[in-house]
Amino acid sequence: MSQQKKSKIIYLDHAATTYIDPRVKEAMDPYFEDVYGNPGSLHQIGLRAREVIDKSKETIAKIINCQSKEIIFTSGGTESINLAIKGVAFRKGEGHIITSKIEHPAVLETCHYLEQKGFKVTYLEVDNNGLIDPKELEKAITKETILITIMYANNEIGTVEPIKEIGEIAKKHKIIFHTDACQAAGALDLDVKKINVDLMTLNGSKIYGPKGVGILYKSADVKLEPLIHGGGQEFGLRSGTENVPGIIGFTKALELSQTEKEIENIRLIKLRDYLIKELLEKIPKSFLNGHKTKRLPNNVNISFLDVEGESILLYLDQKGVEISTGSACSSQKLEVSHVLDAIGLIHDAAHGSIRFTLGHRTTKEDLDYTVMVLKEIIENLRRISPIKVRMEDIRNKSVESSSDHH
Ligand SMILES: Cc1ncc(COP(=O)(O)O)c(C=O)c1O
Repeated sequence: MSQQKKSKIIYLDHAATTYIDPRVKEAMDPYFEDVYGNPGSLHQIGLRAREVIDKSKETIAKIINCQSKEIIFTSGGTESINLAIKGVAFRKGEGHIITSKIEHPAVLETCHYLEQKGFKVTYLEVDNNGLIDPKELEKAITKETILITIMYANNEIGTVEPIKEIGEIAKKHKIIFHTDACQAAGALDLDVKKINVDLMTLNGSKIYGPKGVGILYKSADVKLEPLIHGGGQEFGLRSGTENVPGIIGFTKALELSQTEKEIENIRLIKLRDYLIKELLEKIPKSFLNGHKTKRLPNNVNISFLDVEGESILLYLDQKGVEISTGSACSSQKLEVSHVLDAIGLIHDAAHGSIRFTLGHRTTKEDLDYTVMVLKEIIENLRRISPIKVRMEDIRNKSVESSSDHH
């Protein structure tokens, strides 16, 4: 293996988090030292802070096509998801929730918690590409169903779910529909009327904005029970002094990513498909996870048989290439990703899966270097690997590919 270490970091983990866009940083800057007031204060410096929060809401409302009063600022994706799911559940007191097996832990753990409190939850299966079948979802609806919560795009395998169709079904049955759009925010349409959602979670940390800030879009027709009580900020739904610089940064990041997404998506899709082609061609016994076309423009998730993803991660890190073996939140544990399990991969195949997520600074040269070092790492690891899996044995179940019908 070549000992040469790259001094430049090639960051291919944008789904975990992104660096901040310099334009976002610049927009946030005055709100640390100049406009530092508490938006709840009645003096000038407080009123100026209140004004920028109100303006931010107007800007976001235009982007996602809703009213300002339908936006609640939170501390990020996890909090918005908790507020959406528990907020509906506690308001209703009892009932049934429909979600999927491939949601982020923020959704799954919230649903597990609610099961302990007596709520019923259906975890929908997905097909081999990670797609939910809207017909299966409709079949799962009962008289008790109070909420459907399905992610817009998956953080591990990048599959984009049929949100619009699911929203139509939810509307037909008069059931509240929440989508976790944390991974979709930088690349997909967020018009809440077009995509038919009543609740939508977004965060700043995936869109070149600050970490620790996000929103929950809440349709005026939906009533939620607050989870955080106190001074009554955010219409009483999220008490606590507002994170003014964070809110400014989130708003700027959302504005930039949504206005620039068309051009950036074209660039990323080209790079994404180039990386997929190069990896599959140059490294034998490898295959793509997630849907080939209904996938996020920046996501490449590939399984390399007969190797451990964690070993690949460490060797790539030594070469200056940063990737992930699953969702960042579970990367400390050596369990097989629940998403790869849900798409039917046997554990030995899932263990060698790597997620490369591209971003603003990714170049073709970065990808060429990554493929070159990865090929060498995998060849070396395979030489000493006791695992031997055949390409025809990678799945323990064959979930019918519903994507073929769409
Ligand atoms: C799909 C998805 N949902 C929710 C979250 C959680 O967001 P946050 O880290 O802002 O709480 C993440 C971030 O990893 C995510 O990718």
